[in-house]
Amino acid sequence: MRSKKLMALALASVMVFSMAACGSKEEPATTEAPAAEAPAETPEETPAAEPEEAAKEDADAAAAEAPAGGNIGVCIYKFDDAFMTTYRNALQEILEGKGYTVTFMDGKNDQAEQNNQINNFIAQKVDALIINPVMTSAADQIIATVKDAGIPTVLINREPTADQMSAYDKLVYVGCDARQSGTMQGELILDTPNKGDINGDGKVSYIMIQGDPENVDAQYRTEFSVKALTDAGMEVEELDLQRGDWDRNKGQEIAQTDLAKFGDEIEVVFCNNDDMAIGALQAIQAAGRTVNEDIYLVGVDALDAALNEVENGNMTGTVLNDAKGQAEGAVQAMEDLLGGKTYAAGEQSIYVDYVKVTPDNVADFK
Ligand code: GAL
Repeated sequence: MRSKKLMALALASVMVFSMAACGSKEEPATTEAPAAEAPAETPEETPAAEPEEAAKEDADAAAAEAPAGGNIGVCIYKFDDAFMTTYRNALQEILEGKGYTVTFMDGKNDQAEQNNQINNFIAQKVDALIINPVMTSAADQIIATVKDAGIPTVLINREPTADQMSAYDKLVYVGCDARQSGTMQGELILDTPNKGDINGDGKVSYIMIQGDPENVDAQYRTEFSVKALTDAGMEVEELDLQRGDWDRNKGQEIAQTDLAKFGDEIEVVFCNNDDMAIGALQAIQAAGRTVNEDIYLVGVDALDAALNEVENGNMTGTVLNDAKGQAEGAVQAMEDLLGGKTYAAGEQSIYVDYVKVTPDNVADFK
């Protein structure tokens, strides 16, 4: 509570300075200042009322560093996505906790719809944008639009190429390096007693349930999970690869069909995310198979439901896709941009690490 108050104070006191610092913007700098948005509990207290000198100094330092608050537009590719819901909630908590006025828009998995939302935010003269693109292939157009409007922009979750981002120096990507998550999924299988070769025939036979293949997360997780096995000298056999679009129901359907078709041949079910893995688990259980005994199952994200299944032994493991860490990173990058920071070409991706989750450490993530 105290630190929240200090932050609100810091934000309120720095507002005039920082809005002035952004004087190159066209709109009157102060009209949308969020002082009115600061938590109601803050106004009367002054820093002098703070008893601990050190804490006061911290607050002053924060005030000196904190850049402009204001109106923030956030575009999410679709609200109906389990991981992006966790991420959205984390963003909301952090931004509102810092006194920003934030509006979230649901792109409904439709790039045209999201383009309209971006244009509306620009017309409303938001101070900054945080965008989770619907289509990575639309990155050029999104970047050209925000550049033209001069709006500092943080892209999240769907990473464009360094080349695309280099078009605009007030643009940064905050996310994870999806190769790392794929490699960790492979390592989870290598860490099992038989390295995934349950039937001892000298090869790991797997099915791959892929996210939206337009998305680099899906591409890299698919490639690097298997690469971890082959790099370790394992022979592999891909029984099937299907797109499940990050969706639990599709994960269930694909696993059900494959289990009926390939039966005991399937030793490993790789899912590009946890929601599809939870769906696959339903099919695995319905087929009378037992995870970690006669089949392995791995996902990515560390959704609460997946953490429970890892704990119960119904998933071999998952990989933490750190929504809170990424949301914090995105807000920090946004504040840096609002403070006037620009990014050189080739230095526009900020990565948060993935973490392997197994029964041994799952308690740390709950
Ligand atoms: C991934 C995440 C998936 C899905 C996807 C959307 O990083 O693991 O569950 O949310 O982003 O782009």
